[in-house]
Amino acid sequence: MKAQLEAIRKGALDAIAKTQAMAELESLRVKYLGKKGDLTAVLKQMGKLSAEERPAMGQMANQVRAKLEEAIEAQSVLLSQKALEAKLAAETVDITIPGKKISLGHKHPMYTVLDEIKELFLNMGFEIMDGPEIEQADYNFTKLNAPENHPSRDWTDTFYLKPDSSVLLRSQTSPMQIRAMETYGVPIRMISSGRVYRKDEVDATHSPMFHQIEGLVVDKGITMADLKGTLNAVIREIYGPETKTRFRPHHFPFTEPSCEVDIQCHKCGGKGCPTCKGEGWIEILGAGMVHPKVLRGCGIDPEEYSGFAFGMGLERLALGQYKISDMRLIFENDIRFLEQF
Ligand code: PHE
Repeated sequence: MKAQLEAIRKGALDAIAKTQAMAELESLRVKYLGKKGDLTAVLKQMGKLSAEERPAMGQMANQVRAKLEEAIEAQSVLLSQKALEAKLAAETVDITIPGKKISLGHKHPMYTVLDEIKELFLNMGFEIMDGPEIEQADYNFTKLNAPENHPSRDWTDTFYLKPDSSVLLRSQTSPMQIRAMETYGVPIRMISSGRVYRKDEVDATHSPMFHQIEGLVVDKGITMADLKGTLNAVIREIYGPETKTRFRPHHFPFTEPSCEVDIQCHKCGGKGCPTCKGEGWIEILGAGMVHPKVLRGCGIDPEEYSGFAFGMGLERLALGQYKISDMRLIFENDIRFLEQF
């Protein structure tokens, strides 16, 4: 019996040391230590032993059991460690594989133009102001000297938000002239850009919502020469130093005298083409000397101060700069279009 126990001990320890997987180890545990296992089988024969032999054999059998349990435990720690190492090795990140490319968006072409213009005016000492798109009729019209019967006040032209026509979606950025003068007084040099709204049908050059940039300068001794000099400088920065401009007399209620400024068509160079509707010139802004009534309404003495103002359509500037033929492209947000800039 002693030899049997010795054989189990040796055989089991050899087999345990050779196991490669947990399942193998478990089946060895069952084979040697299980209810129907080899060791149990030997113990069942204890009855055949004499009373003197029994304690020594019992002790030996317990030692063998303890030894095997210990060996199985140690081997199981070893195997799970190996398994973990194998798993980690299999999971290593291959840093040589190229990463997924994340496509970055970029600024809308019209806002690129706007930022350029802001930069130009900032460099000339202008401040940038922001104003409300929902505006009082007082600021959009009355304080800008628009008579009660002015066509732009009509409900067919302007989006009103109240039945008494007192609140509207601003139809121009010019109310910012009033807000600037009322808030900051004189002298002042500011630009203000943003959305404006008119009941226009959509076509290649019109949209019910578009963007304007307003400008205002009021100080002592400001003349039409300052207006022309400033606007020519800006236009030539945007369209190139050779750009020809034309100042045409016009009428706005809040400026006197008033003018519209055209640039020679960038598409045909002045010969006449579909872009300039055969004119050779493209209108880009309205301007003029701030009307004395408007100055007075803002508490500024027109005998002492004078100023000029201008308003330009931002979409049209972007169309010109990038030679885009249809304004609708600016708003449609078609990636195929936007990606070209
Ligand atoms: N607000 C005018 C328009 O929308 C443009 C303008 C601005 C004209 C400032 C003169 C001075 O047409």
